[in-house]
Amino acid sequence: MYTDTSVNQPRRPITLSKLRKMKQAGEKFTCLTCYDATFTYAMNQAGVETILVGDSLGMVVQGQDSTLPVTIDDMCYHTAAVKRGNGHAFILADMPFMSYSTPNQALENAAKLMQAGAHMVKLEGGAWLADTVKLLSERGIPVCAHLGLTPQAVHKLGGYKVQGQDQTQAELIHQESLALVEAGADILLYECIPSALGKTLTEAMPVPVIGIGAGAATDGQVLVMHDMLGVNIGRPARFVKNFLTDGRTIEQAFAAYVAAVKDGSFPAPEHTFDA
Ligand code: KIV
Repeated sequence: MYTDTSVNQPRRPITLSKLRKMKQAGEKFTCLTCYDATFTYAMNQAGVETILVGDSLGMVVQGQDSTLPVTIDDMCYHTAAVKRGNGHAFILADMPFMSYSTPNQALENAAKLMQAGAHMVKLEGGAWLADTVKLLSERGIPVCAHLGLTPQAVHKLGGYKVQGQDQTQAELIHQESLALVEAGADILLYECIPSALGKTLTEAMPVPVIGIGAGAATDGQVLVMHDMLGVNIGRPARFVKNFLTDGRTIEQAFAAYVAAVKDGSFPAPEHTFDA
């Protein structure tokens, strides 16, 4: 289907400074993963502020059993598609497995994603990434650091498990987050951590915090698009809610997600984890 995406995009572009202001004002923002132009357009129409071109595309688009096989070329292809469908959302793009194992390699690959249309790159990891974040930040590349459950480390973690459930782990995530913010991280994303820890970190961090399975207190929420449309291979994770219900269209499902995040009804306690 051809759609002229240059028209009918009245909203002002979402920028990093807008997201910072939303945090300061206590206004929740939304994020969904997306991998193509048409769904991006529909998300724009529904008011989704930020779009993540996630390496989850390895699983939900390519049918891989993890995100590890995804390449930088795959990420650039999908980032460019999202950019073409986008009017105003802020686009984050994942740096795939082993594309940022040294600072210089990260710089080279982050540049490719930015040139493909990303407004920010996302990397998974803790304090070991500080030099990389510093280098990217100094070169003008905004960075989101993804902590907690980091799917690229699934084999090291022993599965897709909740992280930060004991005091030592929670303190480590807190200290690593501070180190990454100090190095220049502009956004933090936490996956699968107890909701109390999500709240503590959101209050402690000076930058916007996005959560997935991190409780209701984070500044922003993200879900994988396929999950929130109820299209899953296998059993969905606890933090997932299907919004394509009650006879909604896909665009109405996106809008219902936006409304639920804004009014605080998503995530509900049944979508969150305890310590
Ligand atoms: O790749 C992805 O979709 C992600 C989300 C799970 C946050 O990183």
